[in-house]
Amino acid sequence: MIKSIIAAKSNNNVIGKENDLVWHMPADLKFFKNTTKGHYVIMGRKTFESMNGPLPNRTHIIITRNPDYQVEGCFVVGDIEKAFQIAQKNQQDEVFILGGAEIYRQTIDKADKMYITEIKSTFDGDAFFPEINTNTWKESKREEYKADEKNPYPYAFVEYLKR
Ligand SMILES: NC(=O)c1ccc[n+]([C@@H]2O[C@H](COP(=O)([O-])OP(=O)(O)OC[C@H]3O[C@@H](n4cnc5c(N)ncnc54)[C@H](OP(=O)(O)O)[C@@H]3O)[C@@H](O)[C@H]2O)c1
Repeated sequence: MIKSIIAAKSNNNVIGKENDLVWHMPADLKFFKNTTKGHYVIMGRKTFESMNGPLPNRTHIIITRNPDYQVEGCFVVGDIEKAFQIAQKNQQDEVFILGGAEIYRQTIDKADKMYITEIKSTFDGDAFFPEINTNTWKESKREEYKADEKNPYPYAFVEYLKR
């Protein structure tokens, strides 16, 4: 099973502020939806709570240290390995790690692949993507786009594979 991180980050590695995103980029939301639909998705409790309930057409695995936490229709687990085990047991070829910062930090060494949307601007934030070590990760694909009327910043869809 391929373990894939998916994230959107700014030039200064910001991914969020006050438990929310800091940009509105419909092209990235569309990419995220198309890439993850039909799959199992793993996320920290804070990222789950930053969304308006579960995303349609995806199976959610929420990580929390709170043993009483429950969400109808979602798996809730107490550690990251347990999250991978659930996806593995359900015959998944690829599982997606959706963040946030704490979860990316703890999974970047375990992941096989990363889908990174570069938002080409600098933002103020309080949640950051870890530094991507090019000794460990090799860029395998890059698609660059200009800003347009709907997407206010230039952006790129970049894929990395573990060396
Ligand atoms: N730009 C992007 O692509 C993107 C993607 C996702 C999220 N975000 C942003 O990232 C921010 C949220 O990130 P965050 O770092 O604050 O929170 P997070 O990683 O989403 O969730 C942190 C929570 O996960 C649980 N957790 C973490 N490690 C654990 C472990 N080893 N075992 C058990 N539970 C564990 C804890 O939950 P409990 O406190 O319940 O124990 C912890 O408080 C928001 O601003 C969000 O908008 C951005």
